[in-house]
Amino acid sequence: MAVEYLRLSLTDRCNLNCIYCTPLEKDGFLSHAELLRHEELTRAAAAFVRAGVKKIRLTGGEPLIKKNVLELVRMIRAIPGLQELALTTNGLLLGELAGGLREAGLDRVNISLDTLSPKTFREITGHDGLDKVRDGIMKSLSAGFSQVKLNVIIMKGINDAETADFARLSADYPLTVRYIEFFPTNKRSARLKDALVTTAETKKKIEDVLGPLEQLPAGPGDGPARIYKLAGAKGKIGFISGRSDYFCGACNRIRMDCTGKVYPCLFSPATHSLRDLLRAGADEAALADYIKKIFLVKSNYKKDSASAGHIEMSSIGG
Ligand code: GTP
Ligand code: 5AD
Repeated sequence: MAVEYLRLSLTDRCNLNCIYCTPLEKDGFLSHAELLRHEELTRAAAAFVRAGVKKIRLTGGEPLIKKNVLELVRMIRAIPGLQELALTTNGLLLGELAGGLREAGLDRVNISLDTLSPKTFREITGHDGLDKVRDGIMKSLSAGFSQVKLNVIIMKGINDAETADFARLSADYPLTVRYIEFFPTNKRSARLKDALVTTAETKKKIEDVLGPLEQLPAGPGDGPARIYKLAGAKGKIGFISGRSDYFCGACNRIRMDCTGKVYPCLFSPATHSLRDLLRAGADEAALADYIKKIFLVKSNYKKDSASAGHIEMSSIGG
């Protein structure tokens, strides 16, 4: 599968501390000197596009806490040949930034939200802020993005009672609500392994309360999500079944962190880094040649690779 989708992490910091990611428990944050500057991130992104990437998604940590993020979005959006620029955020800052992001050229946003209860929001994220995220979702819906998706991880005993409430949102708003199966990414998140709820269980719960889900034909932007719809709904429902499904064969993505380290797979270590080449002033063609070599090692890794289970979600951005 050709690599066409780059997930670019802008920062390893986050303004939340969710129970499955817990950035505050990791071994410290990166220092300013280690981070790529806007100009370096943009040069790297342009080289990925030259090497074949068509879609870039900005991630974190939380990408919207990156300083001057609107300027960076504008710079990356201007890369010739880039077909789509998207962003995944926890939504806390979207209320203030959605309009500016759209103006800067961002095509669409995905918002991570696991609960509609302020108390559970605090339990999952360690902060208050549900109202801000709700405001962010509404502002995104009116900002003119081509699509707005919500990412929900259902966890047993934590938010599973809200499964149907999220599906109901897809009936009322033109959102795609995507249920993502939790997967342990490292020792810390493995504490939650018994909280896993499978797609089959989630789907049954939705249908028991809200009636049958109609499966829609696979669309080009769906990725590994399978898309459904409730009868008469304005929006859609998706399932990303990273545990119970196996989509390594169809994976077209690659990841770069905010220091230039490249991860060919969610379950591989960083095998390469662009930072030294970028700082040595390598031109775009040389960078693209180097990136094409990274693409070649991607197929060495799979979700059951021995290297799995050592991911810092806040560095690699999901
Ligand atoms: P779209 O471009 O809208 O399809 O977004 P996306 O699903 O690629 O990005 P997003 O940041 O919204 O990702 C949601 C999360 O779903 C990811 O961070 C993963 O946790 C999970 N996920 C999505 N695709 C895959 C995949 O191919 N493999 C695995 N293991 N997990 C995935
Ligand atoms: N399992 C599944 N999804 C995860 N995400 C973060 N950690 C995990 C995990 N352990 C998802 C978040 C966010 C996206 C970037 O990654 O819900 O939407």
